Order: sequence, then C-alpha cells, then structure tokens
Amino acid sequence: MFVPVFAQDNASLLFSGNCETCHRVGKSISAPSINLIKKRYKEAFLNKKEFIKYMSEWVYKPNIEGSIMLEQVKKYELMPHLHYDKKTLEDIASYIYDTEF
Ligand code: HEC
Repeated sequence: MFVPVFAQDNASLLFSGNCETCHRVGKSISAPSINLIKKRYKEAFLNKKEFIKYMSEWVYKPNIEGSIMLEQVKKYELMPHLHYDKKTLEDIASYIYDTEF
C-alpha cells in the first residue's frame, strides 16, 4: 500500500542532507538560518504555491537579480549552485513551508 507520509519523510531527509548543513535551524552560521529564509519568503509570497515556485526556481539557479535577501548575499556571498532537479527542489520547498523549525 502506498503510504503518503513517505513523501514527507523523504523531503525531510532531502532537507537535512542538502540544505541544513548551511541553513541551520535557529542560528545563522555560514548562511542565513532556515527560520529566517522561511520568514522572508512567507512575507514575500502570498501562498504556498508561489512560495514553492519562487524558492525552487531560485535554488535551481541562484542569482543576484532574483534574490529577495540581498543583504544576505552581501554578507555570505551568493549561494552555490547545487545540481538538483526542479521536482526535488519543489519537494524541499514544500517541506520548508509546512515545517515548524
Ligand atoms: C554550501 C552552503 C549552502 C547550501 C548547501 C544551501 N544553501 Fe541556500 N544559501 C546559502 C547562502 C550563503 C545563502 C545567502 C546568500 C544568498 O541569498 O545567495 C543562501 C540563500 C538561500 C535562499 C535565499 C535566496 C535569496 O532570495 O537570496 C534560499 C531560498 C535558499 N538558500 C535555499 C536553500 C535550499 C532549499 C537548500 C537545499 C536544497 C540550500 N539553500 C542549500 C548557502 C547554502
């Protein structure tokens, strides 16, 4: 039987394996904390769909022009490009939106 909860577990693993090394929970060390990113993206985008779309596209191809956190780019330099496909990045963005970090 298909267990829908798996998708969430998978996204959680994807996040902790691919993002959390830089985007820590509760503290900004080598990059802005995930809490700060989530807060800023929630302020900037009206709903979950827009949040996911913008975040997954930006992470797919990090760029200064599209950054909504320019002061963080100045502080840490632009986020490196990480070779993930769009679908994976959409799953991760959805997980970030839904999770209380
Ligand atoms: C090697 C470290 C590193 C990893 C790994 C990393 N990031 Fe980042 N990320 C950064 C840094 C540094 C910034 C701040 C500068 C910037 O905005 O480009 C950033 C900024 C961001 C932003 C803000 C973009 C903006 O508007 O400027 C988002 C969203 C983001 N990261 C999502 C992710 C997600 C999702 C993952 C995992 C798939 C991830 N990051 C993995 C270093 C990293």
